[in-house]
Amino acid sequence: MDPGGGVGYSGSRSIGERVMRTQVAVIGGGPAGLLLSHILHLEGVESIVLESRSKAHVMKRIRAGVLEAGSVKLLRDVGLGERMDREGHVHDGAAIVWAGHGRFFIDTRKYTGKRMMAYGQTAITEDLYAAREAAGGEILDEVDDVELHGLTGASPHVTFEREGRPERIDCDFIAGCDGKHGVSRPSMPAGLTKVYEKVYPFGWLGVMSETPPLEDLVYASHPRGFALASQRNPMLSRYYIQCSLDDRIEDWPDERFWEELKSRYPSEIADAIVTGPTIEKSIAPLRSFVSEPMRYGRLFLAGDAAHLVPPTGAKGLNLAFSDVFYLSRALVEHYKGGGDRYLDSYSDMALRRVWHCERLSWWMTNLMHRFPDDTEFDQRSRENELEFLSMSDHAHAALAEQYAGLPYES
Ligand code: APR
Ligand code: PHB
Repeated sequence: MDPGGGVGYSGSRSIGERVMRTQVAVIGGGPAGLLLSHILHLEGVESIVLESRSKAHVMKRIRAGVLEAGSVKLLRDVGLGERMDREGHVHDGAAIVWAGHGRFFIDTRKYTGKRMMAYGQTAITEDLYAAREAAGGEILDEVDDVELHGLTGASPHVTFEREGRPERIDCDFIAGCDGKHGVSRPSMPAGLTKVYEKVYPFGWLGVMSETPPLEDLVYASHPRGFALASQRNPMLSRYYIQCSLDDRIEDWPDERFWEELKSRYPSEIADAIVTGPTIEKSIAPLRSFVSEPMRYGRLFLAGDAAHLVPPTGAKGLNLAFSDVFYLSRALVEHYKGGGDRYLDSYSDMALRRVWHCERLSWWMTNLMHRFPDDTEFDQRSRENELEFLSMSDHAHAALAEQYAGLPYES
């Protein structure tokens, strides 16, 4: 076994086709695929990562930035905690404000004893890339026309094109970590999968600015819509506001964004927000999505390839990591001769956590956003729920437990 890379050129199957062999072909070089490949390498299992975009593109994507306590532990356990512990911001909960009412704080440390971390996905992707490259890991980027074959047999393979040339990877397993638009999920027979989906009638307009963030993350529920103040590091703030799906970036010059953001916070918080030129601005739709099961023969899905959550609660990246924890454990046990108990239970086990986060993200989204077709009854019920959450110790504890993240199953 070559734990460093895993590429062996074993000749050609068709004219001009280069053939490689590895144990696990990982489709997608986002956080899920890179972390899986990294953990497999630590355990002596070979993998090759296939990524359709360029390394530069993958590295600059800006996504969520709050890590559950379990994700923090996982990154530390696999040797990826050093920069996170240095540059990340320990996160012991989040504040919630809603129109006309004071701020309350969901204290995750107090209720769970666990500590979370604000550390951006962009930095995590850099760390993962650096670790794979330092270990001589094989990440083939800018590949086209990826196709999965032989999924129900013992020897699946993947074909693709790189620099216009046909290539092929023979492997034992395929990990589908290729996100929401990937090829892995559609490679499962449609008749065997069940899709659950909810589309929300609004988007999030997000900005990054090189300004000092507020001390805490602050979620706001306001008649003008949801807002969130988040952070990446002491000089990098991340803010979001609920916007219309018809809005375009051009509709939101910086000045209008800051004014709208501040209008959704009570004055003492609005006054503390330090504004400045934004360095990134984007609009994202919100969607809940689960495709079951997460396994078909020798193909295993992980991360956004199998499920999406609306960003409220920051569960997307954390779910990708818990999938990878379960999948890496299952594959390692298989290769160490421990049997296939974890491979066989992977889909059910991962989906239990997925559904938990789906429900929490949906609940937080409903609690804090205004929906265009809300009735007065809906709004009064929402306010009552916020009121109960603000005053009940039990409600605080329940949200803290879920926000900090449920433990991984053994
Ligand atoms: N072949 C190879 N790679 C592909 C293909 C394909 N056909 N289709 C997509 N990809 C790549 C994408 O370019 C992307 O780099 O797969 C990768 C998937 O990465 P992500 O979309 O980041 O998904 P995942 O790794 O599951 O990360 C989990 O958590 O915060 C959330 O949604 C956020 O990205 C985040 C996710
Ligand atoms: C973020 O920092 O991007 C973030 C934080 C908390 C959320 C969603 C996104 O609930």
